[in-house]
Amino acid sequence: MAEHDDTVVHEADGIQELDNQLPRWWLLLFYITIVIAILYMGFFHVLGLGKGQHARYAAEVARAEARLADRRARETEEIDYSTPNFETAVLDRGKEIFNANCASCHHATGRGFIGPNLTDAYWIHGATFDDTMHVIAEGVLEKGMAAWKNQLSPDQRYAVASYIYSLRGSNPDSPRAPEGEFVQGSDSPEWR
Ligand code: HEC
Repeated sequence: MAEHDDTVVHEADGIQELDNQLPRWWLLLFYITIVIAILYMGFFHVLGLGKGQHARYAAEVARAEARLADRRARETEEIDYSTPNFETAVLDRGKEIFNANCASCHHATGRGFIGPNLTDAYWIHGATFDDTMHVIAEGVLEKGMAAWKNQLSPDQRYAVASYIYSLRGSNPDSPRAPEGEFVQGSDSPEWR
């Protein structure tokens, strides 16, 4: 316990300031903070040991950039976008994207509605897989077909393009009338 000393050291307008000693535990904590401050300053600022905020931030940014570069490299490396991929996982993903974004105009079966039939051998913008990828990315704005490159990633566009390619020759009921140019054999998923 701190000792009480009622010595009045100062008085102003009837308010008395007494000379009490600070409790020992408080003083002890106070001295500890001084010691820690000196150690901290020596460690981080004088000796330059340990990582400060700036160094830790830079390390984190470098780690994130390395991960991003790695992912970009994998994305462009692994997938060849020049031919359709009919693996179930890709087609399932493509079907989901088609039903959510395209079926309103091309019908869930691809038989066409506001947009053209995607299952027959007639094509306005070309029959090849490249043509399909291109028209999906760039759209036909004046005809109401959006450019999907900002809404769908290359991966998603590839999946949906593969999916609609797989619908070729599926002969859905009540198809929309043919539009565009006839391309012999292009109503088959095997056609290239
Ligand atoms: C708002 C309606 C609409 C939506 C939604 C839409 N399209 Fe279209 N699409 C069209 C129209 C209209 C055309 C025909 C453009 C023309 O006449 O030049 C077209 C053309 C196409 C063509 C070219 C067909 C050909 O004969 O050359 C493909 C492929 C296609 N769309 C795929 C898609 C895919 C995939 C999606 C979804 C990601 C999609 N479309 C969403 C309206 C739409």
